[in-house]
Amino acid sequence: MADTLTIKDNRTGKTFDVKITDDTIKATDLRQIKVKDDDFGMMTYDPAFMNTASCKSSITFIDGDKGILEYRGIPIEQLAEKSTYVETAYLLLNGKLPNEKELTDWNHEITMHTILNENLKALIDAFRYDAHPMGRLISTMAALGTFYPEAKNIFDAECRQRQIVRIIAKIITIGAFNYRRGIGMPYAYPDNDFTYPGNFLNMMFKMTESKYKVSPALEHALDILFILHADHEQNCSTSTMRVIGSSQADPYSSVAGAAAALYGPLHGGANEAVIHMLRQIGSNKNIPAFIEKVKAGEGKLMGFGHRVYKNYDPRARIIKQAAYGVFEVTGKNPLLDIALELEKIALEDEYFVKRKLYPNVDFYSGLIYQALDIPMGMFTVMFAIPRVSGWLAQWQELLLDPDQKISRPRQIYTGPRQLDYIPVQNRK
Ligand code: ACO
Repeated sequence: MADTLTIKDNRTGKTFDVKITDDTIKATDLRQIKVKDDDFGMMTYDPAFMNTASCKSSITFIDGDKGILEYRGIPIEQLAEKSTYVETAYLLLNGKLPNEKELTDWNHEITMHTILNENLKALIDAFRYDAHPMGRLISTMAALGTFYPEAKNIFDAECRQRQIVRIIAKIITIGAFNYRRGIGMPYAYPDNDFTYPGNFLNMMFKMTESKYKVSPALEHALDILFILHADHEQNCSTSTMRVIGSSQADPYSSVAGAAAALYGPLHGGANEAVIHMLRQIGSNKNIPAFIEKVKAGEGKLMGFGHRVYKNYDPRARIIKQAAYGVFEVTGKNPLLDIALELEKIALEDEYFVKRKLYPNVDFYSGLIYQALDIPMGMFTVMFAIPRVSGWLAQWQELLLDPDQKISRPRQIYTGPRQLDYIPVQNRK
């Protein structure tokens, strides 16, 4: 029988035919496999979702073995070279590139929504001076939603679109305001004359000058970084966005949750960890000893390895190239030589070759952020800013997908059963 999988249960001798679609079987089709009629039925055990498709998606394509990444079918290399982040966000959300008018309108919309409600500043002011920028971002994003109670109308397309625009537009203001608050600088308000990345740099770094001057080279490099980070299909934070969204929470709460998932050092926190690692290595002569430690299981080579890419992460290649453009303006980051040598040694080492460990997007991005004068604590915020467009595109796809319901995995219970309650005075 074509396009089916025949499963024989050796416990009972029964066979089952299960339909195959897109090289995949439906997990619920396994439930018919039982020993006794009142059994729950067979499940799959897949901690960390190593081999489970949680959705059908037409947003981002990755071939991890070949090192291919496409947004809506367009290779990331072409977008990095020819598009802007704002246009790419439109592509992710709408499934096609905008025509000229659509692009002008979209740019206008995003630019016009960057201002935060002044009352939100009281919340930003309340953080301690040394609060981590990601803690600030997560909380401020959740709080932003309280200004828009209408956002809970997630099935109203117009209302949904308003929140999407607000989140993409305001996240640069949230990131920059929280940074300024942390260093005791007055807030710099959005300036509609700038592009999206230019406006972010303006709000971060404007001093007393009446008009901030953006370096076109740095603005362009930042735009490329934003494009590269905009989406990456069902990673940890995007899955979090979908799981929270599946309960029909408002998008601000879902984005705050997704940002919390991104905060972890194994995900968006890795670029910060790379700089710590390069500083700790300190000089090229210490690299062999460092590599030996990693191979002995004492720590990881941060910025290397990926759940999906078993080849060079295409984003790392583009970032490495962009870094040179930035260093021409800012001067070379002294950690670059260590990074290049570390990469060279690791790519020739059998341990890394055998495990298919290559540089990922985070290996070089931190070096550019540092050159842009962005402090390390802000690195994950730099990742979260563009990733909101991916999260929102995935969230919208989820809401419109008739196959989806509230997310609710199963478990294999391994604890005791039917114990008696013991009053506290009788417990050992
Ligand atoms: N350094 C050294 N060894 C590594 C590394 C690394 N960076 N990454 C994986 N390995 C080893 C593992 O120890 C394991 O070895 P073993 O088979 O001898 O036990 C093998 O390679 C397979 O690794 P897993 O941990 O099974 O791979 P997984 O897919 O679970 O992890 C991850 C992927 C989390 C990205 C991992 O490679 C890692 O921790 N890398 C460093 C952190 C990092 O750079 N994260 C950024 C990821 S990209 C992003 O989120 C934007």
